[in-house]
Parts: sequence; structure tokens; C-alpha cells
Amino acid sequence: MKIELTIDSQQIEAERSQTVLEAALEADLYIPHLCYHPDLPYFKDISPMEVCYRGTQEYCSDNQSAGYERCGLCLVEIKGQPEPLLSCLTPVEEGMEVVTVSPKLKALRQDNLAFILARTPPMPVLPVLREKAAA
Ligand code: FES
Repeated sequence: MKIELTIDSQQIEAERSQTVLEAALEADLYIPHLCYHPDLPYFKDISPMEVCYRGTQEYCSDNQSAGYERCGLCLVEIKGQPEPLLSCLTPVEEGMEVVTVSPKLKALRQDNLAFILARTPPMPVLPVLREKAAA
């Protein structure tokens, strides 16, 4: 059964079982996201890897007891909610009003991306991501 909600003033239909991010993507509305993929488990079900490799370089986890830390890029504002929520975890609701672009969201996403980039080994794609985050 479908429900209706509004994302950035655009009324869309979504399945009750969908998250806000899934509904937005299905309606061709973009919400930034890094750790969501339809074929992967949600981040809260993932444990950090002990070690990963880039070429022959080994990177060891320094905190195996910590849960996976989400990317936090999919934050959205929802009318009636005091703080932004992760759209990849928030189920859609009938009549929900979602905002995906605002100065507050941009600042939070930039902070979250900066946190990720500061802890990521150097890769060719990072300068491109830094430029996009600053735009
Ligand atoms: S996509 Fe990473 S926290 Fe939602």
C-alpha cells in the first residue's frame, strides 16, 4: 500500500516499508549518501573490519569494539522533528514533510564528510570530494 509524503515541496508516493532515502531515490530526488546501498546491510548491523589493504599497505582498526560509524551525509529535516534525522534509517510516514537542502544540513554534512576524510588513508578521489564538500 502506498502513502504520500512531500520531499522538498514535491509530493511523492512511497511504499510503507521504505525509508525516506529509498523513497527519495526512487522518485529521482537526490539525498547525499555514502554508506547506504540497497544490496548492503544497514550500517548498524556491520562490525568494523580488523584490517584492510590498499595495495600492500595494511591499515589496522584501532577500535574493534566500536560499532560502525555511519557517514551521516543523508541527514534531512522533517517537519515536527527537533533535529535532523538520517534518511537511510527513517521510515516514511503518511503526510511527512521532508527538507533535503538547507544551510544547517549543508553544514552538518560538511562536518560529517570532513570527519570521514580526516580519518581516511590518502586516495586519488579525496581531493575531488574535498572540493565538492566546500562548494
Ligand atoms: S547513508 Fe550513511 S548514514 Fe545514511
